[in-house]
Amino acid sequence: MPTYKIAVLAGDGIGQEVTPEAQRVLEVVGKATGASFEFEPGLAGGAAIDATGGPLPESSLRLCEQSDAILFGAVGGPRWDTLPQESRPERGLLRIRKELDLFANLRPAKCFPMLVDASPLKRSVVEGTDLMVVRELTGGLYFGEPRGREEFADGSERAVNTMAYTSREIERVVRAAFDVAMKRKRRLASVDKANVLVVSQLWREVVTRVARDYPQVAVEHVLVDNCAMALVNRPTQFDTIVTENTFGDILSDEAAILAGSMGMLPSASLGGRVGLYEPVHGTAPDIAGKGLANPIAAILSAAMLLRYSLDRGPDADRVEAAVLRVLEQGHRTGDIAAGGQKTVGTREMGDLIAREVERAY
Ligand code: IPM
Ligand code: MG
Repeated sequence: MPTYKIAVLAGDGIGQEVTPEAQRVLEVVGKATGASFEFEPGLAGGAAIDATGGPLPESSLRLCEQSDAILFGAVGGPRWDTLPQESRPERGLLRIRKELDLFANLRPAKCFPMLVDASPLKRSVVEGTDLMVVRELTGGLYFGEPRGREEFADGSERAVNTMAYTSREIERVVRAAFDVAMKRKRRLASVDKANVLVVSQLWREVVTRVARDYPQVAVEHVLVDNCAMALVNRPTQFDTIVTENTFGDILSDEAAILAGSMGMLPSASLGGRVGLYEPVHGTAPDIAGKGLANPIAAILSAAMLLRYSLDRGPDADRVEAAVLRVLEQGHRTGDIAAGGQKTVGTREMGDLIAREVERAY
């Protein structure tokens, strides 16, 4: 029976609360199948800053590099908001993405039928939404050089970030997106700002070139402003979306609303040898420490870990089905409850799902 080494970087805020629930679900899978999971905790984000002075100790990076997969929570919080850019909690996560070459970030957004009314958007708009955002994760404005600030003699300042992509960087994420589209409805929307940005012109050329290798996939080019509108107007028109780092950051938060709540969205970051799995939501300082957070995004991220890093698709299917069953039974955390509906906390939702996973074997 295989043994899997999983690095667990829970991070800050509700990351500390939802990650143990995802870990518990993997333990249940292990028990049912005979696979063994070795969980190794590591520091990241604000928690790491408090303990070591920096957002990602070398020991955490080594741990990630030596694992089969990484279960990540969330990083950041008001306590560290005044730190300079380079030492903020978020830097820890960006460093892992870059060092492990996790250039393809998969963010599925699905509107589950029983949660249609949890979305602030109309039922007629969100019903049937099932899309996958493939976000480039190691380039663009997040990492481009030059970056920084300069001060002029008169005391005024200038700040710079650079959106830069090589054709290789574009091609590898675009190929990843075509591969994803091939396993879905074979429709790919490439999102750019080619009417203004030269980076986007290159992006569009590369997509058009790669598309020749995937004649079965219907490709369209969508401008990012138009895409932002279409996502809340006619989201069902999308199947797979591929876009650069910053556009993907923004559009994937928008897509979360289609799924009812940020608390529902998992993600997988792939490309290098070790994949990283994290809920799309952040640390939610307003509810942190209260046991109220929705663990479903973290648990669905664990399902993605099973599917993409451990090649255990059938186990991932069971976890996803267990989540659906618990929702069908009417259980809700606060973020996905419709008016008047009774709610459960993080632990209880985790318990309910773990029990359903156990039953699935
Ligand atoms: C995300 C987050 C991160 C990002 C932050 C925490 C650095 O918003 O994963 O979407 O901007 O990529
Ligand atoms: Mg984001």
